Amino acid sequence: MQTKVAIIKDIENDNKYIKEAANIIQNNGTVAFPTETVYGLGANALDPQAVSKIFKAKGRPQDNPLIVHVANKDISGLVLTIPEIAKKLIDKFWPGPLTIILEKNNIIPDATSAGLSTIGIRMPNNEIALKLIEMSNRPIAAPSANISGRPSPTEVERCVEDLYGKVDYILGGNRSEIGVESTIVDCTVNPPVVLRPGGITLEMLREFHPGINIDESIKGKPSPDLKPKAPGMKYRHYAPRAKLKIISGNKEKTIDKIKEIVDNYIEKNKNVAILCTDENANKFPKGKIISLGSEFILADIAKNIFEALRSCDDLGVDLILCEAFEEKGVGVAIMNRLNKAAGFDIIEV
Ligand code: TXA
Ligand code: MG
Repeated sequence: MQTKVAIIKDIENDNKYIKEAANIIQNNGTVAFPTETVYGLGANALDPQAVSKIFKAKGRPQDNPLIVHVANKDISGLVLTIPEIAKKLIDKFWPGPLTIILEKNNIIPDATSAGLSTIGIRMPNNEIALKLIEMSNRPIAAPSANISGRPSPTEVERCVEDLYGKVDYILGGNRSEIGVESTIVDCTVNPPVVLRPGGITLEMLREFHPGINIDESIKGKPSPDLKPKAPGMKYRHYAPRAKLKIISGNKEKTIDKIKEIVDNYIEKNKNVAILCTDENANKFPKGKIISLGSEFILADIAKNIFEALRSCDDLGVDLILCEAFEEKGVGVAIMNRLNKAAGFDIIEV
C-alpha cells in the first residue's frame, strides 16, 4: 500500500495537505494524525469498511472499540442522551484529553463500537486534528497510531515506523504535548466512573462530582474474573521489546536496587537502560540513562514516557529498569501505562 507522509509546519500554508488527508477520510481511507495526547490512526467513524481498515493496519483485536473524534461540542447527533454531568464535563474539558462514554445512536456502526451499545467520544485539542475532522465533515474514529501492543506514538516518526505501507496518509505535526492517552470517563452510570486514567486527573473530575472514582478492575493486574469495562484495558499494552521492570518504594533503596540489578546484568554481558528522573540521573554509574524529566513535574514525565520506551528499543537493550512515580495527579496515568508495559513486573523495596 502507498503511504503519503506530509509534515505540517505552518497550518495556513500547509492547508492543502490537511485537505488531501480529509479527502482520504471521505473516501473511507486511513489517515494518521497528531493530537495533544498521542498520534491517532483515523477513518470515517460512520462507515464499517473504513473502520475495519484501522483494525487491519494496527492488528487490533476486533472486540476493542474505537474512540470517535469530533470537532465541536454538539454531539447530539451521535448519542441517545447526554446526562447533565456529561454536559458539564464537555463544557469544561473540551477540546482536551477527556473521552466521554455515552449510549450511542444507530448512526455509529457496530464496527466502531465493537458491538457495544455505547461509544467513547472526544474533541481533541490540536489544530491539525480539528481541521482534519472539520474538512472531512464527519466524525473520525481513531485509536492510537501504533501497532497493537506497542507504546503509543507521540512523534510522527513513530507512526511512520509502525504504519508506513499500511495506511493511506500520515500527517505530521508537533510532538504530542500530553504524552499519555485521554482519560476515559463512563457517563452512562451515576456517578461516572473513570475507565482509563489520563491527562484529566481524578482530582479535576471530582470538582464536578465528588463521587467519581477509578474503576476497580483497572487498578491491578487484569484477572479473568474481573473484566475491565474498557475492553482495551485487558490487553498487554504499551510494551517495549525488552523486558521492563518497575522498582517501587523508598528512594535510596530504589537507587540501590537498580544499581544491583544493573551490575548483575552487565556481569552477564547484557545491556540495561535506566529510566529515571532528572534528580537521579547522575546516581547510576553504569547502564544507559534515559532521563524522563523532573520528579516535581509529572506532566513532563507523562510527555516523555512512551518515547523513552521506544528509544530503549532503538538502543537494543535487554532490560529496562524504571523507578516508580507518585500516584497523584497525572502520576496515576503514568503508573497505569508503566505497570501495563511491564506486565506488572514490580519490585517493591
Ligand atoms: O487520547 C486518546 O484517547 C487517543 C487519541 C488518538 O485520541 N486514542 C486512544 O485510542 O487512546 P485507543 O483505541 O488506543 O484506546 C481506546 C480505549 C480502549 O481501551 C477501548 O477499549 C476504550 O477506549 N473504549 C472505547 N470505546 C469504549 C466504550 N464504548 N466503552 C468502554 N471503553 C471504550
Ligand atoms: Mg492505544
